Amino acid sequence: LPEPARIAEFTLRVLTQRHDLDGETVLITAGPTREPLDPVRFISNRSSGKMGYALAEAASERGARVLLVSGPVQLDPPAGVELMRVQTAREMRDAVMERLAESSIIIKTAAVADYHVANVPKQKVKKTAMRLSLELDPTPDILAEVGAEIERRATGQLLIGFAAETENVVAEAKRKLQAKKCDMVVANDVSADGTGFESDENEVVLAMRTGEVAPLGRAAKRVLADQILDHAMQLRLALHKSR
Ligand code: PMT
Repeated sequence: LPEPARIAEFTLRVLTQRHDLDGETVLITAGPTREPLDPVRFISNRSSGKMGYALAEAASERGARVLLVSGPVQLDPPAGVELMRVQTAREMRDAVMERLAESSIIIKTAAVADYHVANVPKQKVKKTAMRLSLELDPTPDILAEVGAEIERRATGQLLIGFAAETENVVAEAKRKLQAKKCDMVVANDVSADGTGFESDENEVVLAMRTGEVAPLGRAAKRVLADQILDHAMQLRLALHKSR
C-alpha cells in the first residue's frame, strides 16, 4: 500500500480535479533511449523519466486518454495510462509514428540519444590495450519528423517539444521551436543544481509559437506538469482563434 499521505494527496486530487482534457488523446514520450554498441554495452542519455511520467499522470487525471512511449526507467506507469516500452530511438520513432494519427496533443519529453552505431556487432567487442574509436550515425529526429508531418497534413495537432540546454536557454528554445515546427518548447537548464535530469523538481521556460515566453518558477515536476498543460490548452485556443 502507498503511504497514507500519498493516498490522502491522491484522493484530494481526484475529488477536486478539473476534467478539461476530456476527449483528448495525449501522446507523451519519456525517459532515455539506449543505443547498443554490442550485445553487452550501450550509449544513452541521462533521464529518469520523472518529467514525462508527471505529464502523463497530470493529463490522465484531467480526463485525457494518455499514450506513454517510454524508454527504460525505474518508474511505475501512472494509473490508466497506456504504456509502450521501447529501448532505441528507432523503436521510439516507430511507436510515435504508429500512434500519431489518433493523438490530439503530442509532448516529447524523452531524452533521445542523438547517435547510434549503425552496424552493431553480434559478438561482444573484446577489451584490448588499444584505443577504440566508435563511428556513430545520427538517430532519427522524431520531433522534427512529427513537426513536418503535422504541417504537411495540416492536422491542427498541438506539438510540444522539450529542450535540454546548458546555456542560452531561451534562444535555444526559440530556435528549436522554429526548426522542429513545434507549437511550444519547454526549455530547462540541465546544468542547474537540483533541477533538470533525475531530480524531483524542475524550472522551465515555455517558448510559444505566438511569440509569448513564459518562465515557470522552480516547482515539483508534477506541479509544473499541470502548469505546462494549462499553457498548452490556452495556446491551442489562441492558435485556433488566429487561424
Ligand atoms: O527524465 P527526467 O530525469 O525527469 O529529466 C527531464 C528532462 C531533463 C530529460 C526533460 O525535462 C527534458 O529536457 N527532455 C528533453 C531532453 C532532450 O533530449 O532535449 P534535446 O534538446 O536534446 O532535444 C530537443 C527535443 O527533440 C526533445 O523534445 C527531444 O525529445 C527531441 N528529440 C531529440 C533527439 C532525437 N533524435 N529525436 C527527438 O525527438
